[in-house]
Amino acid sequence: MTHRFKSLFALGAICIALIAGCSKQQQGPAPAESVAVVEEVTAPEVAPDVEWPMYGLTPAEGRFSPLADINAGNIAKLGLAWYFDYPTARGMEATPLVIDGVIYTSGSWSMVYANDARTGELLWFFDPEVPRNWAVHGCCDVVNRGVAYDKGRLYFGTFDGRLVSLNAADGSVRWEVQTTDPERPYTITGAPRIVKDKVLIGNGGGEYGVRGYVSAYNLDDGEMAWRFYTVPGNPADGFESEALKRAAETWGGGEWWVVGGGGTVWDSMAYDPELDLLYIGVGNGAPWNRQIRSPDGGDNLFLSSIVALRPDDGSYVWHYQTTPGETWDYTATQHMILAELELGGKTRKVIMQAPKNGFFYVLDRQTGELLSAEPYATVTWATGVDMETGRPVEVEGVRYEGKPTALQLPGPIGGHNWHPMSYNPDTGLVYIPTQDTPWVYDATEEFQYRPGYWNTGTDMRAGALPDDPVLKEQILAMVKGAMVAWDPVRAEPRWRVEHTGPWNGGILSTAGNLVFQGNGSGQLVAYRADTGEQLWSFDAQTGIVAPPVTFRIDGTQYVAVVAGWGGVLALSGGESLKTGPIPNRSRLLVFKLGGKAVLPPAVDTPLVIDPPPLQAAAEQVAEGFKYYSTFCSQCHGDGAVSGGVTPDLRALTPEKHAMWDAIVLGGMHWQNGMVGFGGELTQEQADNIHHYVIERAHFTLAESAPEAVELEVEAVVEPPPAG
Ligand code: HEC
Repeated sequence: MTHRFKSLFALGAICIALIAGCSKQQQGPAPAESVAVVEEVTAPEVAPDVEWPMYGLTPAEGRFSPLADINAGNIAKLGLAWYFDYPTARGMEATPLVIDGVIYTSGSWSMVYANDARTGELLWFFDPEVPRNWAVHGCCDVVNRGVAYDKGRLYFGTFDGRLVSLNAADGSVRWEVQTTDPERPYTITGAPRIVKDKVLIGNGGGEYGVRGYVSAYNLDDGEMAWRFYTVPGNPADGFESEALKRAAETWGGGEWWVVGGGGTVWDSMAYDPELDLLYIGVGNGAPWNRQIRSPDGGDNLFLSSIVALRPDDGSYVWHYQTTPGETWDYTATQHMILAELELGGKTRKVIMQAPKNGFFYVLDRQTGELLSAEPYATVTWATGVDMETGRPVEVEGVRYEGKPTALQLPGPIGGHNWHPMSYNPDTGLVYIPTQDTPWVYDATEEFQYRPGYWNTGTDMRAGALPDDPVLKEQILAMVKGAMVAWDPVRAEPRWRVEHTGPWNGGILSTAGNLVFQGNGSGQLVAYRADTGEQLWSFDAQTGIVAPPVTFRIDGTQYVAVVAGWGGVLALSGGESLKTGPIPNRSRLLVFKLGGKAVLPPAVDTPLVIDPPPLQAAAEQVAEGFKYYSTFCSQCHGDGAVSGGVTPDLRALTPEKHAMWDAIVLGGMHWQNGMVGFGGELTQEQADNIHHYVIERAHFTLAESAPEAVELEVEAVVEPPPAG
């Protein structure tokens, strides 16, 4: 555990006591001689600073703070200390770092901010100038989950695949390297991790067609030290390692290397300094559909696996595959936590993960041995995990070979996505942001690889909400979001808190018997860590998906969260978000006991759906649906229903309808992340998508209208005589 306790009691207080005129600038690492001075005075009554120096607070990534100044007894007095408005309105997912009184955050388009942690004053800001048209290569919004810090230097990834190092003091660039092939649709949204003298970074792009890997760069000069590929390349080119040669034996038949194979390390890592093992979480297959990727079947290592590596050279140590033969976008990139648990009378060093596939895994982190795997969310694709073989027991028909699956849980959004969990050693519980978002998987009739675009090999229409009102209501009733308090020793849930819908925030727990989580309904909420009782909430005026952090400076404990709606389900979810459209108000919110700041009133613009007449045949609308599902729905929402971050295409103004071709084919709004699809879509296809969104607008109006009429009729008209 490496909490950052400052070696001295708050230097500011000492200055005031001893040296008149001692200025704030003199804070920071103490000169050696001042240590002696400290010993001569009676200890000041200011508790030591405790900051948040790395992504998961410690290399074990537990996100449990030992601070208890804010606690279950006084949380009612928690109020806003200050806020800072970010200059964008896209998804915000970052964990703030707090070091020497400065908060470092990253936001959409990979911009980095440094704010004074006491006052909120912006100290500097850095924009890596990500080309906005690169947005088309991202499944899940133009987000960034955070920066890494070491000895006055910051490191972060950019959406277009660069790794940048800045001087923390002023945001000036130290070095920058391209970590990906700019010809392939790679993106970086995850936070780098620092292990010893190296900075580690993965990437994303599995939906579009890439080969996954993690790379290590020297902190000093950005020179690449090693790279570990998670899936084999073309066997004809030879293999980078013995591990990959063996992995290649689990692939067969197809030309997976053309689309890339997937296995991106787009989020989680953890490090155990004692065992000197680095753990990486590996993503889904590219394409999702295994029949295309590896028609002869096979486990397709190291997809959907936790892999343990030596951090000095990236050599393979062990792996555990959560979903062999992955074909559902069941990534194992979800947050991993290292802990020590009493299991069967023995203390075990474990690694814990709740990957997308719905099972909560506890593994021995020295060997990769499976210790438990039980469902933390609704699971219909497997009946359980066989503890002998470590493999899930699949239900028949889930591989959509020949016909679509039944409504399946989890869907591609996962029972848990990237939102960090928290492990609280006081309660022994892991708090998991979970969800149920059912999905129907179906293969595309004929897979056509489109370099740079959506290439999952699945028909996204199959997962869309149906128009039939009864069916739709039944499906929406299955859609859920919750915080689950998981007992990792008993391998069962202890309690759960239901949310309005899926897609809620990452989690922080503290020694104050508190759990903090933001949600998709726009609230930041504190619960009792032992029981889940809600104790406090704050109206953030925007959805929160990022995890809160806490820290203490000058004797005051603060809680901070990067608020702002976005991410994959906020874009693609449509009505299954259940919260309705939520505006993005990207803001850093910082709280303390007795905080009195207030947010400016929120002004929402109502959605006006007033479409032109539909002038198209049903077949044209159906064609439009097909192309919409492949090219547009991931950003504009299922059924053209926006989650609030991108424009709702049902509510286009007459001017925008008139500019349809210029926007959709020509890319008129590319500077805001809406590229032109002229290179990929024909005029006819673009027209048909236009018909489809107009039809969706009429459908929305009709869907609400007849119900009102029906109610009226029911009230005044006698039922017709029977027979
Ligand atoms: C990578 C995400 C992404 C994809 C994919 C995408 N869009 Fe967009 N779209 C956006 C964003 C962001 C905006 C808002 C741009 C702005 O603020 O100017 C937008 C704006 C638009 C607008 C203008 C809306 C307005 O009121 O100004 C139209 C029309 C549109 N998109 C249609 C489409 C269609 C049709 C497709 C599929 C062929 C598509 N988009 C695919 C992100 C996307």
